[in-house]
Amino acid sequence: MTTGFWGPIKPIGANQHDSEHRLRATLSWPHLIALGIGAIVGTGIYTLTGVGADRAGPAVILAFAIAGAVCACAALAYAEMATLIPTAGGAYAYTYSVAGETLGWIVGWSLILEYSLACSTVAVGWSGYLVGWIQSAGIDLPEMLLAGPHAGGLINLPAVLVALAVAGMLILGTRESATFNIILVTIKLIALAVFVALTAPAFDIANMQPFMPYGFTSTDDGGTTRGVMAAAAIVFFAFYGFDAVATSAEEARNPGRDLKIGIIGSMLACTLIYMGVAVSAVGALDYRELANSAEPLALVLRTLDHPVAAWAIALAALIALPSVILVMMYGQSRIFFVMARDGLLPRALSTVSKRTGSPTRITALTGVFVALCAGFFRLDEIAELANAGTLIAFIAVAGCMMLLRRRAPDLPRIFACPAPYLIGTLAVVGCIYLLFSLPTTTLVRFAGWNVVGIVIYFAYGRRRSVLRGA
Ligand code: ALA
Repeated sequence: MTTGFWGPIKPIGANQHDSEHRLRATLSWPHLIALGIGAIVGTGIYTLTGVGADRAGPAVILAFAIAGAVCACAALAYAEMATLIPTAGGAYAYTYSVAGETLGWIVGWSLILEYSLACSTVAVGWSGYLVGWIQSAGIDLPEMLLAGPHAGGLINLPAVLVALAVAGMLILGTRESATFNIILVTIKLIALAVFVALTAPAFDIANMQPFMPYGFTSTDDGGTTRGVMAAAAIVFFAFYGFDAVATSAEEARNPGRDLKIGIIGSMLACTLIYMGVAVSAVGALDYRELANSAEPLALVLRTLDHPVAAWAIALAALIALPSVILVMMYGQSRIFFVMARDGLLPRALSTVSKRTGSPTRITALTGVFVALCAGFFRLDEIAELANAGTLIAFIAVAGCMMLLRRRAPDLPRIFACPAPYLIGTLAVVGCIYLLFSLPTTTLVRFAGWNVVGIVIYFAYGRRRSVLRGA
């Protein structure tokens, strides 16, 4: 065993596990692309477009471009690392293998935040669409059960229920869930295509002025953090999810080919779709009307006098957003699973069901945590915290990719990131800039999460680590 400054380093290729602790290889590249798009296109474009417009004005388009460019660099680094270390665990596993256990733990702990809070965010966004949709049909619902205490309610019950339902699906098995996911992905892509087709003709250049009413950098504007970078730091949420493909590497039938196509293909497709949707939305409607709407895309369509299309896009969001929860929750349970298998979390959690090949206990635990966060917290705040966790993971992956290029230049790389030091540096610098464009309260909460993580590591994980011989 090699030990570095940050603890033991897991050898690359040390990914053999007994059958009870090994995930079954059931996924091929169409499943992985669907997993990627399933995780990427969701509340970020359907709901946070409005929050982004509130933070940046029409320049939310620029915010999408910046976040997309940073994610594209990170995606290239991910693809190299995922094909080099094709094991479940994504950024956690790469960091463990390149930089050592302690840093690996910190990244894994950030990933738990990313995936679980992303699921909760989407569950809350889904609930917003559901409530609007039912109320537009003239049906009254008990307000106390539609929002958490932050909005004067008791609990966001629809968000809780959708989170638990998705966890149940995952417990039934990876394969079934991934196939169902393909249908949902198709629905939401058609809905966005219809949105662009109907709104693009209404583009009005007057809606673009002023283009950057709050400037470029992230600054405090009466208690709200605004500016293009503040918007980029939140709409960044719309882009990630491709890393969920990387975390399912152990379940890919042909990791070398399938992961490459899965990660890069889904990333490219989504970036193009977002640019189209963002330009159409901000071009068709004054950003002030778009800002902070719980259902901005439906709002644009209604304003342009397309009530049936508005109804349909809301319905599509309702049917399809759970696919995002599905993929993110899948990724989350796998991260948890691998950390438990490594002994850093209780190993009993990593037992795989003999019937379905999926980690049942950990998935159930994840589902309950996601449901609780969705039931009680505010959409933009949990999205921002999820983003903080993701940014740390992206920084780690790009850093590991560059370190490994230096340390082991001759490793056979099935996918080699082009201009690795340039792309890697752009990913690291871009992610750091986005991280510090988040509101200060988010950064403080994120620091608190990490303090808890480090305490758990030193109290439990470090002593039970399989690699340390526990
Ligand atoms: N990118 C995913 C979404 O926008 C997390 O919902």
